[in-house]
Amino acid sequence: MSEALVLSEVRGEGARRTALITLNRPKQLNALNDALMDQLGAALIAFDREDGIGCIVITGSEKAFAAGADISAMARFSYMDVHHNDFITRNWETLLQVRKPVIAAVSGFALGGGCELAMLCDFIIAADTAKFGQPEIKIGIIPGAGGTQRLPRAVGKAKAMDMVLTGRMMDVHEAERSGLVSRIVPAAQLIDEALSAAATICALSGPSVALAKACVNKAFEGGLMDGVGFERRIFHSLFATDDQKEGMDAFLSKRPPDFKQR
Ligand code: CAA
Repeated sequence: MSEALVLSEVRGEGARRTALITLNRPKQLNALNDALMDQLGAALIAFDREDGIGCIVITGSEKAFAAGADISAMARFSYMDVHHNDFITRNWETLLQVRKPVIAAVSGFALGGGCELAMLCDFIIAADTAKFGQPEIKIGIIPGAGGTQRLPRAVGKAKAMDMVLTGRMMDVHEAERSGLVSRIVPAAQLIDEALSAAATICALSGPSVALAKACVNKAFEGGLMDGVGFERRIFHSLFATDDQKEGMDAFLSKRPPDFKQR
């Protein structure tokens, strides 16, 4: 049997619960190799398809969310190796196919590919011990899992250039001030806080949550008016769902909504 490089469990109560995925190479600070990313992708796709799951949380260890792509695996790659294997695109970008919300719960180092993995998630809740960085420049490469594109969108050009060109780390307070992180919590409460945010999402209407995620991603990925046009079509389409009728009727009747997920 192959080694479990990610651990999966289901947490919470109710009709829709949270999938908690833990990156599991603690001795290597969760350095991300192909085998781990294959297992992560498979877990994400399985949970995305499962009706009883409303939200996914990805976390690492106390010391490291992930210290980057696995340098010992990459050191011997040739250009043709990375080209033929479609390195990064083939398995890292599985995350982009996930329609349910994915929260990164980050403690300790999120460096290089680890920072990029966190940025591929929908938002980042960070422990007060978290440190972020794109140190690839120090080993003769550049960020290769979207870091040069997503970091400037998250923190602005000046700070992204500073991080990418010097390879320095940001502590969690700088990361939160800059917009990379949505919430900072004491390390001991990290998983509880992420699960609590996930439980809030699980209790909502899954179709509107998935479409809201798609709309915010348009803002992050494309031009303003394209995004507003996309949002308008999605907004109109939600008036075809039972959950829109139920949500509004419940509000007007001063009772909690009973979403049917359709
Ligand atoms: N790849 C492979 N192994 C790694 C690793 C990585 N990215 N990061 C850490 N490790 C390993 C170390 O080699 C070490 O292994 P051994 O015990 O067998 O020696 C173990 O994890 C513990 O690490 P350290 O002893 O270095 O721990 P530390 O506390 O002294 O330092 C650290 C922690 C500052 C995070 C340091 O490990 C470090 O700088 N790691 C590399 C960070 C990095 O350069 N990341 C970018 C990788 S390239 C990339 O990600 C490309 C991309 O964009 C897709």
